[in-house]
Amino acid sequence: MTQDELKQAVAREAVNFVEPGLIGVGTGSTANYFIDELAKIKHKIDAAVASSEATAQRLMARGIRVIDLNQAGQLPLYVDGADEITEHLTMIKGGGGALTREKIVAAASDKFICIADHTKLVDVLGKFPLPIEVIPMARSYVARELVKLGGQPKLREGFVTDNGNVILDVHNLTIMNPVELESTLNQIVGVVTNGLFARRPADLALIGTPQGVTALKR
Ligand code: A5P
Repeated sequence: MTQDELKQAVAREAVNFVEPGLIGVGTGSTANYFIDELAKIKHKIDAAVASSEATAQRLMARGIRVIDLNQAGQLPLYVDGADEITEHLTMIKGGGGALTREKIVAAASDKFICIADHTKLVDVLGKFPLPIEVIPMARSYVARELVKLGGQPKLREGFVTDNGNVILDVHNLTIMNPVELESTLNQIVGVVTNGLFARRPADLALIGTPQGVTALKR
């Protein structure tokens, strides 16, 4: 099976968890497959909250109503992909640059289902460069602070987030304590969000493997 077929398989599986009403929808290629599957059961959905402009566009193009999180209130379910995920369901996200809105929608959801192919499953987070959304004027300051923490930050050239900020991708981190690092990074002035989802990990992961979809629970 190709990686895309594995992504499609987990997207199909995730749709079985969708309850009538509202849903939060993530960003990225796996989330895009989920949107395509969601469109097949759109009669069940009142509306969706999107974690990015790109996701909002795709949802609307498939006839799914998109509403603002402030209008929606608490959501029963959020479905999204990940760049790396551990068996404890902690994750690195933000490869697509949507980490801040993803973290907000995840925080406002009762349940977070992560959908990913098996190449995303790791023992220790950090091989994938950790994305950090930063207020533009703080870019150099935050980069220096990240170097003090042992990382090698690289500006994502030519990229501006949906919130008008920049992304520093931090290389060379071996993240042994993701909960602690997530808090530490949040304390750096100028950091909007970091891509560690450890304080609010997924509740369930659907991992696509050549042998089928495996569910990992917390
Ligand atoms: C978007 O900002 C990310 O958090 C995505 O969820 C993550 O990059 C996974 O994307 P793919 O499904 O495209 O691998």
